[in-house]
Amino acid sequence: QERFAQFKLVLLGESFVGKSSLVTRFVKDEFLEQRESTIGAAFLTQTVSLEDNKTVRFEIWDTAGQERYKSLAPMYYRNANCAVVVYDITQASSLERSKAWVKELQHRAADGIIIGLAGNKLDLEDKREVPTEEARAYAEEAGLLFFETSALTGENVLELFTEIARKVPFE
Ligand code: GTP
Ligand code: MG
Repeated sequence: QERFAQFKLVLLGESFVGKSSLVTRFVKDEFLEQRESTIGAAFLTQTVSLEDNKTVRFEIWDTAGQERYKSLAPMYYRNANCAVVVYDITQASSLERSKAWVKELQHRAADGIIIGLAGNKLDLEDKREVPTEEARAYAEEAGLLFFETSALTGENVLELFTEIARKVPFE
């Protein structure tokens, strides 16, 4: 028996951490070296197949990380089923910003929202500032799914979205 669901997903995180790059890798399997900072937000969709004949269509809001757009975020996370909060493993301050987004989601978004934490730019290992274990420990304590990703190489990108699709309850 085939089962189909639509999930609203919001991407949050500091500017320049790679939210748009992650979603472009997921949706188009592309990476652009020079890309414009997002203005307002962008909307994209992608479908993933799970085991047991389950199919999930993500409706994705890729929000703008720049401070001046901060007040728009509630509009995008309000009725989201799931969220990906992104930081950059080479910028410790971006993990702190992620923690603030997680707190805000846990207080203001829908009950039961599934939140994934993504430590992006995994290909820049030589510039790493955030140890994997530190982020993993935080994610566990806060009840988040956790992945380190690279939009550049594609490492763990499909895994991140697929794991979120598995965790959001059907119907
Ligand atoms: P805002 O739209 O301003 O919130 O930024 P964003 O989070 O959407 O970041 P964006 O995807 O625009 O990426 C910012 C910069 O980081 C760009 O120059 C990307 O090419 C680069 N970038 C994104 N992901 C990766 C990655 O995984 N590895 C490397 N090396 N660079 C990346
Ligand atoms: Mg962007």
